[in-house]
Amino acid sequence: MASDRGPVREYLAWSKYHAWWATRHLNRIPAERRLRRHLAESSPPWNVHIGAGLNELSGWLNTDVSPRCRYWLDVRKPWPFPRGSVGLVFSDNVIEHLSLSDGRAFLRNARQAMAPGGVIRTSTPDALEFVRAYLDYPDKHLDAMRAKGWQAEHPVDLIRTTFSLWGHHSGYVYDEQALTTELVRAGFSSVKRLNLGESDRVELRGIDRPPADTDFYFVLEAEA
Ligand SMILES: C[S@@+](CC[C@H](N)C(=O)[O-])C[C@H]1O[C@@H](n2cnc3c(N)ncnc32)[C@H](O)[C@@H]1O
Repeated sequence: MASDRGPVREYLAWSKYHAWWATRHLNRIPAERRLRRHLAESSPPWNVHIGAGLNELSGWLNTDVSPRCRYWLDVRKPWPFPRGSVGLVFSDNVIEHLSLSDGRAFLRNARQAMAPGGVIRTSTPDALEFVRAYLDYPDKHLDAMRAKGWQAEHPVDLIRTTFSLWGHHSGYVYDEQALTTELVRAGFSSVKRLNLGESDRVELRGIDRPPADTDFYFVLEAEA
């Protein structure tokens, strides 16, 4: 595929990606072991923060699949938690990085690990809001995108960015209806939409980190 970058920048980007990939895989084995050790040495219920990135929450088991994460949990693979041992699951802007079938595996694995009455909280970009903005008020949002340095030449950039940037090209972008259906399909119930930072459960309040790239996302909670 042709690139806008010159050969040197292209090579540097390629090397940076491969260095990141190699470090990530070097971290996997020790970080997987660390998680198993933690589970053996502590008692349930555990509150599991998946795809935590730099958002390390206290009182949570902050997991990820990154070069620097302390605890490695690939949510697509079987979870090392005994059935019913997880109280809360928090997933902040992660599911859109997984394909539909990987997202389904994540929700199924989470449901199996969770105790009855446990709660899963997920936030993700809102496809419906992007489409509404594209149809009804593109200019306001395009200006905001330009201010953040994103390419925003035409209204269609609102749709293009949502589905193709930030790693979403290999994932699945949801609206409320689609994610609600997937949660129910995985065995969750009482799905409800909440405002940023709000929850009936004190542990789930104020922990969302709004993505820098968009205002259009939504938060759902559901019961195991
Ligand atoms: C957009 S970042 C969000 C980071 C953080 N939750 C936040 O809101 O700042 C997406 C995160 O999902 C993680 N991720 C991607 N695929 C994953 C997988 N299969 N299992 C667990 N985490 C994954 C990435 O490593 C990354 O940290």
